[in-house]
Amino acid sequence: MIGAERCRTVLRLSLPPSTSNTFANWIAALEARHLGELTFPEVSRALRALSSAYVERRHTISQGAALSGAGKRAAFALFYGPLHFLLVRHVVQSLPDAARPPQTLVDLGCGTGAAGAAWASACTTTPRVIGIDRNPWAVREASQTYRDFGLDGRARRDDVANVRLPKGPAAVLAAFAINELPGPSRDAMLPRLIDRAARGDRVLVVEPLAGFVAPWWKQWQLACESAGGRADEWRFRTELPAIVAKLDRAAGFDHREITGRSLWIATPAGGRSASS
Ligand SMILES: C[S@@+](CC[C@H](N)C(=O)[O-])C[C@H]1O[C@@H](n2cnc3c(N)ncnc32)[C@H](O)[C@@H]1O
Repeated sequence: MIGAERCRTVLRLSLPPSTSNTFANWIAALEARHLGELTFPEVSRALRALSSAYVERRHTISQGAALSGAGKRAAFALFYGPLHFLLVRHVVQSLPDAARPPQTLVDLGCGTGAAGAAWASACTTTPRVIGIDRNPWAVREASQTYRDFGLDGRARRDDVANVRLPKGPAAVLAAFAINELPGPSRDAMLPRLIDRAARGDRVLVVEPLAGFVAPWWKQWQLACESAGGRADEWRFRTELPAIVAKLDRAAGFDHREITGRSLWIATPAGGRSASS
């Protein structure tokens, strides 16, 4: 097990040609689907509203406000989805043992499926992917994403706070999702994830660097480190897909550098695994 450590990387991410083509085709399909009925200015306005919901109106997020309205859904799919893909891909390529394929990859709060697809497509052989989200639109989008990446994937609607997780061995991912859980659900999730790791599953939690999004991070970090895991901060540059870069500029953001932080708990290959 890797000792707890903190690392900061400044790297350029490049995708291998096969993933790069699939990624480009996925982005093209997202553009065709989400810019079919909305104009670019409508989506960029919605992106600003979505960002303000994440930052200034965080109390509305747990009621599902972020994905209410076609504009915000399009903005999420076209902008945050690809950014989350690139970040998770980078994290998984950087963490030792993360690309070893699990039998099943469970993506909690899967959204459009981007983060789960990033991890699954980085594995040496692709695992079965199970996406779980409470939002029906997200479930449909995630299913489409799994198809677009040629993954054996299925998304279903459920509340991650109560969902019965599939039997191990599995890899469990929660990208940008734990911060949306109400406090009691979040508190209950931490021992569940630690328990899965103790039974041999690999667990990856990803959140933004901004402290106000996850004021609980330190507590989770200490718990993960006590369980033999590690915490990392990530900062890297990559070429953004043209539509992401265009939305970035139009909304007045600057994501030329992609950042995030992660918690990772893993048992080495051949370690004990069990079901829950
Ligand atoms: C910011 S999005 C992140 C989506 C995806 N993981 C990614 O990285 O792109 C958070 C997702 O968590 C979902 N979510 C929030 N609370 C949830 C809950 N209690 N049960 C299931 N899904 C939830 C939301 O519907 C949303 O799709």
